[in-house]
Amino acid sequence: MTQAGTEWWRTAVVYQVYPRSFADADGDGIGDLPGLTARLPHLAALGVDALWLTPFYPSPLADGGYDVADYRDVDPRLGTLADADALIAAAHAAGLRLIIDIVPNHTSDRHAWFVEALAAAPGSRPRQRYHFRDGTGPDGAEPPSDWVSHFGGSAWERLPDGQWYLHLFAREQPDLNWDDDEVREAFEGTLRFWADRGVDGFRIDVAHALVKDMTEPLRSQTTLDTALPLDGSDPLYDRDGLHEIYRSWRRVFDAYDPPRMAVAETWTPTSFRNYLYARPDELGQVFDFALSKAPWDRDTVADVIRTSLADQFEYAGTEGGLTWVLSSHDVPRHASRLALPAGVDPMAWVTSGDTDPTIDRAAGLRRARAATLLMLAMPGSAYLYQGEELGLFEVADLPAEVLQDPIWERTGHALKGRDGCRVPLPWSRTGPSLGFGAAAGWLPQPPAFADLSVEAQDGVEGSTLELYRAALRLRRTLQTHDNEVTTVAHPDPQVLHLRRSNGWECAVNFGTTPTALPAGEVLLASAPLDGALPGESAVWSRTTGISASD
Ligand code: GLC
Ligand code: MG
Repeated sequence: MTQAGTEWWRTAVVYQVYPRSFADADGDGIGDLPGLTARLPHLAALGVDALWLTPFYPSPLADGGYDVADYRDVDPRLGTLADADALIAAAHAAGLRLIIDIVPNHTSDRHAWFVEALAAAPGSRPRQRYHFRDGTGPDGAEPPSDWVSHFGGSAWERLPDGQWYLHLFAREQPDLNWDDDEVREAFEGTLRFWADRGVDGFRIDVAHALVKDMTEPLRSQTTLDTALPLDGSDPLYDRDGLHEIYRSWRRVFDAYDPPRMAVAETWTPTSFRNYLYARPDELGQVFDFALSKAPWDRDTVADVIRTSLADQFEYAGTEGGLTWVLSSHDVPRHASRLALPAGVDPMAWVTSGDTDPTIDRAAGLRRARAATLLMLAMPGSAYLYQGEELGLFEVADLPAEVLQDPIWERTGHALKGRDGCRVPLPWSRTGPSLGFGAAAGWLPQPPAFADLSVEAQDGVEGSTLELYRAALRLRRTLQTHDNEVTTVAHPDPQVLHLRRSNGWECAVNFGTTPTALPAGEVLLASAPLDGALPGESAVWSRTTGISASD
């Protein structure tokens, strides 16, 4: 059993739902909670263990819902609190757990606190919940520091009264001041609000940014992606003071029976600092994004897996949670990304509209299917992103006029952003939005999505949907709780061949020519085998004489 007990999340396969793009029940072009509830049978039949919902709260949608105006309600376009309760109940009845997204680093600029802060005078109590500062330079017309937003441009915005406020993301996402007790108490209250309603866990958005060093003079930040210091000394990210917040949250989670789980989103450049958030007295689990960044290259992937396993043990201990991610709502879909030559930045490729370079979609899908089998054969938990079970590709050629990601405007159209992985799902071959709803969806679907729809793949041998179903079914019997992975020698240097403690093996051929199949009983393959392991494919097998354990 991989599912029993309160620690179900350690080995769970979690399916990420981007609610606005999943299923639209009321025909307004926007996916909604009743649409998701109606489609739960698809997810139960797929064989995932839990769902993670990105934000469904009231939001002006300056950042796809990550600008939350009210943490304890549902956006009217997506439903009501009663719809959320119905969803939780229906998910549980279908044997699925439900994780929701908590966005503690910033609110929407329409949140009651920020509205109050704007109406209040500089220095007043309502402004203390955020980071307001006077500017520098003559007349304070320069921002308080050189900090930059993730989405491009300065991280400071000036108000008519002359003060500036901090926003590490869009200007509609003011950063909260986590030195403020009221902020801390309110979030614990929000966690309880949803835990009381029955949600099983929380995904913590930008969990590494809440605590900031705001002592004057404000110091320059270090580059997030490459040079973040390893001692927690950056003024903005990954500061040691964060861990106290998560220890306090753990006490909130543990007051429930079963205790609520949590997973941190932390974009730190080294996985070892990441694993600190997964310590058992903190959040328990953290996304490890290393696989989602790795190109299709045997040695790089082998190295990523080795590093993640080692770091997890060393920094989170054997009790810390191990996770794997290939796709999400923030990165180009892996069926496209893995077709890119090493060294090509996936976000730049999206911006080129699939012209620099134009990718081979069939090769991308072959590689994606193989990568998925590899990920699902690893110890710990795996996070899937909606539509990857259909082999959806990144819609890189969305026309400029439909783009919604704030990255597009904030970078002055230098980067297109993340809309290409957020296109509504195709459920059927026909219809105004291929079964997504009764009207066209909020982003246009490419015609090629029709043949990737659930209807087109359901029951079709060899389809990506059936591959995922078979893999998830098998994984339930094969996944073990120990984290042992050994490398098996293979004569072909393009093959990565790994073995679990119970004899479950996964071999991936990163090359393009067929090579020797591993010895033992074949359980599942990402491509037709024909006596050999084809190029760009993976196989699960079992060493003869060793049986699957629980
Ligand atoms: C996280 C989310 C991303 C969002 C950002 C700001 O990285 O995954 O979608 O834009 O936080 O909330
Ligand atoms: Mg709708």
